[in-house]
Amino acid sequence: MTIDGYTRTCGLIGNPVEHTLSPFIHNTLAEKLSHNLVYVPFHVEEGQVLPAISGAYALNLFGLNVTVPYKSQVMDGLIQIDELAEKIGAVNTLVRMEGGFKGYNTDMPGLYRAMSSEGIQIEGQEIILLGAGGAARAVAFLCASKNASKVYLLNRSLEKAEAVAGEVNEKTGKEVIYPMALSDYHRLPNQKFLAIQATSVGLYPDVDNAVIEDEAFYRKIHTGYDLIYKPSDTRFMQLVRQQGGKAFHGLKMLLYQGIIAYELWNDLSVPEEMALEVYKVLKEKMGI
Ligand code: ATR
Repeated sequence: MTIDGYTRTCGLIGNPVEHTLSPFIHNTLAEKLSHNLVYVPFHVEEGQVLPAISGAYALNLFGLNVTVPYKSQVMDGLIQIDELAEKIGAVNTLVRMEGGFKGYNTDMPGLYRAMSSEGIQIEGQEIILLGAGGAARAVAFLCASKNASKVYLLNRSLEKAEAVAGEVNEKTGKEVIYPMALSDYHRLPNQKFLAIQATSVGLYPDVDNAVIEDEAFYRKIHTGYDLIYKPSDTRFMQLVRQQGGKAFHGLKMLLYQGIIAYELWNDLSVPEEMALEVYKVLKEKMGI
């Protein structure tokens, strides 16, 4: 691409940002859409998030993504926060407006779009959700707001599972999230579930581990969705497949959270064929 006086800049703030795939996603989209736009990573030190946001605004940045560990801290530096992001308590996308940035969460709509594009339904489903950290909390919101019929939220520390379940049930006005200790997985009803893996177990370089190893657990899963995309075939996914289930990694979610951010910044919709073309090159880049 040619950078000139009209080039608009977007970027990512986080720490670390060195291994991010987001510049690849956004710069590929800009190229395919012939937009004069560039997306760069910004490594921001702890304590520098608010100055980074004001600086980005002063420098006329068009939009920003936010990653670990700043998704909630960043909320203090915004002039407006979208309702979904406010509920989830995490912002991963900033859109430039008159006077400052507005915060959105595109992670959950991204997961929803990724699941829909694989033909996976949430509505009316009984779901097992593994984890109660930041990612799992957002997934619990998604499941409740998309009318899952029941979500068993299993976590190593039961207190955290109870806290997340209580908060999501209260904020969505639905009693759908049932907290359980991870070690009680054998108490799950004998039926087939969609299982969403939202713990950090299995994430590179911890590639030989899954949060539960017991085959009996995996016999209860018809579809396993791991939010992890590195590695692209996690131990959780292998265990699901070994018991006859279908397994998916989180790369499409990463793609769609980026696409939704790009759509917000540019006020357009990216056609599905183009999304799939970007997915193809993204997979090639990952060697999968
Ligand atoms: P993220 O923002 O990616 O969700 P996080 O907030 O640190 O990360 O949450 C990590 C999740 O992985 C938590 O649910 C954590 O369980 P605890 O709440 O009990 O800590 C889970 N997790 C991490 N390591 C684990 C392990 N070895 N066994 C079981 N669960 C684990």
